[in-house]
Amino acid sequence: MRVYNSGAGAVISKSIGIRPREGNKNPVVVGADCGLINAMGLPNPGIDNFIDELKQIKNTELPLIMSIFGDTEDDFGIIAERLSELKIVKAIELNISCPHSKISQIGQDPELTEKVVKIVRKSTNLPIFVKLTPNVTNISKIAQVAERAGADAITAINTVKAIAIDIETGFPILSNIYGGLSGPAIKPIAIRAVFDIYKKVKIPIIGVGGIFNWKDVIEFFYAGASAVQIGTAIIKEDLNIFNKINYGLLRFLEKKNIFNIKELTGYTHKILNKNLEM
Ligand code: DHB
Repeated sequence: MRVYNSGAGAVISKSIGIRPREGNKNPVVVGADCGLINAMGLPNPGIDNFIDELKQIKNTELPLIMSIFGDTEDDFGIIAERLSELKIVKAIELNISCPHSKISQIGQDPELTEKVVKIVRKSTNLPIFVKLTPNVTNISKIAQVAERAGADAITAINTVKAIAIDIETGFPILSNIYGGLSGPAIKPIAIRAVFDIYKKVKIPIIGVGGIFNWKDVIEFFYAGASAVQIGTAIIKEDLNIFNKINYGLLRFLEKKNIFNIKELTGYTHKILNKNLEM
């Protein structure tokens, strides 16, 4: 409720799995020059406990998107079905793209991606967002597979696989060795991914990766996003970021005489295509 009341259009949970999970041993987060690297290890209370928590939220109008992951492909379907009973859940996002955990690298494999999205499609009528990993050669190919399998939107991108090393000891800093890099360092990678995916799919794209201000949001929309997510900036700054971004976006749209931000989606493609026709 705090996030929503801070000006976000919707709230998305950390990823929830089928059973309680402690996550990795510390250290699980380390700063990077332009962001941070984390390997939390998908810690979560498990779907049953999380549903109990959700039931305590009185305002079921809250636009809540549930991020889920599975130890197996079938887990995704079981969790999606359970969540579909709850009025508060408005969409399900499949985390098939954690950069370092064995169980969540489905998004690197087209066949597994297809299988999981199809399983979830059969388990729920809620909109399904599929969050993709940039740690592949051709992200738009995976996006096309997800679209064909029944996804309603693509979320791009999850974190970039990374390592930080302590130069005194020579040891990797994170207990898990590998982690996922987020923050401004990955924004150009995310923009490229959204740009490429936009050319190949018809479903909406939710852009994510390194958004800190309203200008970043405009860039994602121009590349092809219809919405954006913000994570790392909330940690580095605070919840006021949503109001600041909303204010900046409104002023920009007013200045440009644009009535609806939807008009910005894919703008860069439109002008590039126009130039090609000339
Ligand atoms: C973790 C999960 C992610 O999806 C990610 O991008 C980075 C880290 C994790 O829980 O370790």
